Amino acid sequence: MLAYNFFRPLVNIEYVKVCDQKDKNCHVTNLPYQNSTLSTEERIADLLNRMTLAEKIGQMALVEKNSLGNLDDLAKYGLGAVLSGGGAKPEVNTPAGWQEMVNNFQSYSQKTRLSIPLLYGADANHGHGQVPGATIFPHFIGLGATNDPGLVHEVAKVTAAETAATGIYWIFSPNLDVVKDLRWGRTYETFGSDPQVVSKLGQAFIEGLQSYNKRGLTVAAGAKHYISNGSMVWGSSTNNDFFIDQGNSNISEAELRQIHLEPFRQAVNANVKSIMVGLNSWQGEKISASKYLISDILRGELGFTGLIFSDWYGVYEIERSKYNSLVRAINAGVDMIMLPYDYEDFVTYLQRAVANGDISQERINEATRRILTLKFELGLFDHPAIDSADLKIVGSKENRDLARRAVRKSLVLLKNNNAAVPISKNISKILVAGSAAHNLGKQAGGWTVEWQGIDGNWLPGTTILDGLKKSVSANVKVEYSLSGDFSAQNNLADVGIAVVGENPYAEGWGDNNNPSLSAEDLSAINNLKQKSKKIVVIIISGRPLNIKEYTKDWDAVIAAWLPGSEGQGVADVLFGDYPFTGTLPIDWDL
Ligand code: BGC
Ligand code: BGC
Repeated sequence: MLAYNFFRPLVNIEYVKVCDQKDKNCHVTNLPYQNSTLSTEERIADLLNRMTLAEKIGQMALVEKNSLGNLDDLAKYGLGAVLSGGGAKPEVNTPAGWQEMVNNFQSYSQKTRLSIPLLYGADANHGHGQVPGATIFPHFIGLGATNDPGLVHEVAKVTAAETAATGIYWIFSPNLDVVKDLRWGRTYETFGSDPQVVSKLGQAFIEGLQSYNKRGLTVAAGAKHYISNGSMVWGSSTNNDFFIDQGNSNISEAELRQIHLEPFRQAVNANVKSIMVGLNSWQGEKISASKYLISDILRGELGFTGLIFSDWYGVYEIERSKYNSLVRAINAGVDMIMLPYDYEDFVTYLQRAVANGDISQERINEATRRILTLKFELGLFDHPAIDSADLKIVGSKENRDLARRAVRKSLVLLKNNNAAVPISKNISKILVAGSAAHNLGKQAGGWTVEWQGIDGNWLPGTTILDGLKKSVSANVKVEYSLSGDFSAQNNLADVGIAVVGENPYAEGWGDNNNPSLSAEDLSAINNLKQKSKKIVVIIISGRPLNIKEYTKDWDAVIAAWLPGSEGQGVADVLFGDYPFTGTLPIDWDL
């Protein structure tokens, strides 16, 4: 890099302009806002003063990384934030690959006139789940079953550390939806149906995430989805492919406050740094258009001062006209728009809206100020590049041990006849069957590597079958058949363990009027039963399944939710090394 002194003031050199080549890719250094010894307020005041309207508007855009055809657009439009949506991974999907990708994006922001760092966001719903090699924790529904805020705090802290190690300091989590209809495909992303539990665990999660602090870099939580997603009505989805997700909740204001506002109140008390507005509607109006819910209640009543951002393309569903939609959302109080594509349009519309007086300069300044505040608080101005030494903690033994502990505590014993569990280790033969017994993709659920999850053992971890085998001595024979075909077995096994459940799904693709077991899994259980003295059924699912008509034939039934990469935790409890302590986060009609 060459340093040219283009703007040489008469007396003191106030700042230095740095360029890649003569007059190309220039940015400035040494300005007050770049001085880390000044207060955040002073730095923001200085920076805001220097920004053009176009630069402020750029800051308000949150773009999906796969929609950036040309990375130079980051600098051209001065884009404020980029996200990886579900499955939006780097070419080399490893922790190092993620770090390199984010560093690369960041390097473009450094080439802009004012070098404002980029905010990079991602979902880390159950650990940094998109990255093979990261620790994958139980999905929230399982954490809800633990009902253990201390544990949830630890899980969040490790999630922050693993995500930050790849250069991502903004996490679209926790999910604070209070689920009232288990047919919803996002049930497993919630802590359950009890507002008190969601509030308590949500607070613990936020505090855990935001307690991360390394070399002056911290992590921001993005609590979602404000508000009332859990009460949407079946059949009301505005998305043609879905039934309930992205739908309408018709509840009264009293109910909205009682059930759905409480977790957000706690989140604000816990100093959550950002809140995502949902794709749903309340009483027929899209939340992202509701000045009442956003400005009056969230800002005014709850006193939230952090960043409010919208969800995936949501604002454009307010009205047919994109211009009107943007005007309404921004005037309702949304500061940053998850576009996630079409940033050229966004810039044009917003400039026009300000010129027309439909959005005030003041409102743009306010939104920009919040975005910059977050970037300063995260430490991004002072440390835009990441340290590769941090990568070694991703998926470490210690982190996996924590996930294993979380799995143990999430298991709920739904039925136990004839003391079928715990299973003694002094037996001679165990038969194992079912589609989820040896499948890390299934046991990790949606939002794992891909948006809709994956099928099979494509990531480091321990399947439930592996865990069972490791728990017993070589004297105990453990035989496995996915379909439960044990016809060659002559003697009855001491116990048959079926691990069955749902295939991965995410969002509205998981909306299901009658979630139950597949014919294949039911047949595997029946086959297993023919060859076992007792039958233990472990359910891997994102929600309660309709299994009422079958359970009378089974000795024990265990809800294991979506445990993630550490299947050993299931065996730990099954063989009695640890007790069953999980409780139902949502009613299960058995
Ligand atoms: C989901 C959010 C998620 C976002 C980015 C949206 O479709 O509703 O929960 O954070 O995508 O992946
Ligand atoms: C993205 C998700 C997003 C979804 C919204 C997908 O393509 O990967 O992150 O939530 O679209 O529909």
